[in-house]
Amino acid sequence: MSNAVYVLNGPNLNLLGTREPEIYGTTTLDDIGALLTERAAELGLTIEMRQSNHEGLLVDWIQEAGAAGAKAVLLNAGAFTHTSVALHDAIKSVKGPVIEVHLSNPHAREDFRHKSYVGMAAKATIAGFGARSYVLALDAAATL
Ligand code: DQA
Repeated sequence: MSNAVYVLNGPNLNLLGTREPEIYGTTTLDDIGALLTERAAELGLTIEMRQSNHEGLLVDWIQEAGAAGAKAVLLNAGAFTHTSVALHDAIKSVKGPVIEVHLSNPHAREDFRHKSYVGMAAKATIAGFGARSYVLALDAAATL
């Protein structure tokens, strides 16, 4: 198994920092990457951080993480969380742990965010802590 943790981010997360800051905060995805890289170094892990607005690319990257024997995958699939059977199936194909991550708490929001195809396949979910959700998920992954 490798010591790489894949951190995969879905649609619109490239806009973090300016996108609905009252919900998602003002931390950018680059800031989150820096926080994770720093924490990963303390844990003896490395971070492979990516973002795409395209569902199929996220499927490719989940498969890649599985083939690479990644220590874990942290997946914030954005809105695809609530729609994507393809991501659900890709997660199921990975042997290592996939942890669902959200900045906001989707269950405290609109009804259409209450169903998670990602969460139904993932090992666990961490949501609602803003940018810290990612760091908490990394700490959890390190213990697995
Ligand atoms: C999100 C929650 C999703 O419902 C939403 O579509 C996002 C962001 C979050 O991190 O809180 O794009 O995944």
